[in-house]
Amino acid sequence: MVSFNKTSVFFAKIFAKIIVKATVTTAIATALLIPLNGCTGDGRLASVTNGTVPEAALLAAPNQPKTGMFASVANPEIPPLAPLGPPPIPADNPMSTAKVALGKLLFFDPRLGGDASVSCATCHDPEQGWSWAEDISRGYPGTVHWRSNQTIINAAYYSKLFWAGSTPSLESQAPSAARGGVAGNGENDIMEARLRLIPEYVKQFNAVFGEPWPTINNAWKAIAAFERTLIQRDTPLDKYLSGDKSVFTMQQVRGKTLYEGKARCILCHNGALTSNEKYYNIGVPRAQRWLDDGLAQITFRFEYYAKGATEALYRSAKDDVGLYFRNKNKWSKGKFRVPSLRYIAYTAPYMRQGQFYTLEEVIDFYNRGGFDEDGNTSSFPETKSPLIKKLDLTEDEKEDLLAFLETFSGAQIIIPKPKLPPYKPLFSLAELEAAQAAK
Ligand code: HEC
Ligand code: HEC
Repeated sequence: MVSFNKTSVFFAKIFAKIIVKATVTTAIATALLIPLNGCTGDGRLASVTNGTVPEAALLAAPNQPKTGMFASVANPEIPPLAPLGPPPIPADNPMSTAKVALGKLLFFDPRLGGDASVSCATCHDPEQGWSWAEDISRGYPGTVHWRSNQTIINAAYYSKLFWAGSTPSLESQAPSAARGGVAGNGENDIMEARLRLIPEYVKQFNAVFGEPWPTINNAWKAIAAFERTLIQRDTPLDKYLSGDKSVFTMQQVRGKTLYEGKARCILCHNGALTSNEKYYNIGVPRAQRWLDDGLAQITFRFEYYAKGATEALYRSAKDDVGLYFRNKNKWSKGKFRVPSLRYIAYTAPYMRQGQFYTLEEVIDFYNRGGFDEDGNTSSFPETKSPLIKKLDLTEDEKEDLLAFLETFSGAQIIIPKPKLPPYKPLFSLAELEAAQAAK
């Protein structure tokens, strides 16, 4: 490895920009990047040329960083960690206290689902980090899901939701959750009819939206507004980044330097959200549960079918292709949206099918260059990111990094389950008895 110097970073950046603008061919990009980065071309650079321009631009950063180096080199592709501001509010769904109160009831109400037994909060349980503490999420009754459940906390900040970033807003996410076959499995018209039979909802929807009857679309808007209040930005990390250096131990300060340098986390988990919201294959191996749990296997096949996979793929698939489902580009196989690392103290297990149970396991996985303890890596090694490298962290450094990650979460957010409003009785007991007597 050739040592890194400022001039080569400068030129590498310029060339990376040219690559972005001109989308030059594979051969040229590789030719330019190898000498400039001083990389030996160990074959992994080949995947730089897969059309993921952000990765090419990121490679302009030093190849073998000294501690803290990514943070000290200004690169617009790697925004520094920053305190989290308030979440964005879309113009067509302004916040109000009444809307949030209604959204909260709906989030906890199982009548927004197929058999009225599963609410959003059933799977996104406040006591389980607003998520579900198993590797793969529970599903609609009689099923298991096929991916790990994400937390709702801070979901308001993402511009794309779900592991493969398939949905652009909370407003459009809620119906896919309530209607999805292995999630809520609800029908729009039935869910809407139920809302209209609940007098308290009729009153509240009318007050919030000014329409005579509850509509299912307004229900999603209210839920989204409630989710925008589920944020945690009072964390040691936010305090430290706002200038209160006293909140960190020396170990956490060392961990921060590793995060921004030798451990390379900052390359993807950056900015205020600690996610650049781009897609990478980092080498997480396939879910073991699909090998021995029949119900999980069925959902896995069902998802392939539902997402329009070819017959051949449907029959042979052994892993989640992630972003590939959306663009059918072979270089997208196994790529997932970078998740935020905020609130992770409460959201184990980790990764898209909960492949790792602890943060220690996650750090070991990255330290090995994206391999689990048995040496397994992605089912799609050809798309594995060149940004994932063996890190050579010592035991002490791993502990420092873990101590730093512990500053990302703040206090747990627990709210008591609200009391849900009842259906309007269709008839009184006296009317029922009279009708029976008349038979
Ligand atoms: C049966 C369990 C289940 C139910 C019910 C459920 N979810 Fe989810 N939710 C999940 C799983 C699993 C994921 C991740 C799925 C994926 O990425 O493919 C998820 C993802 C999400 C995300 C994305 C978070 C992120 O980081 O991108 C949001 C927001 C969300 N759910 C909100 C809701 C809302 C609102 C409801 C109720 C209308 C709901 N969920 C109902 C299991 C569930
Ligand atoms: C090349 C980009 C990249 C780099 C570098 C990177 N990550 Fe990630 N990280 C991801 C992606 C993408 C996922 C989701 C992968 C999946 O599930 O297949 C992820 C997932 C995670 C998760 C699981 C979060 C959850 O909610 O389940 C943790 C924890 C994590 N990374 C920590 C780290 C740490 C610590 C480092 C540095 C040692 C690091 N990451 C470096 C892209 C990256």
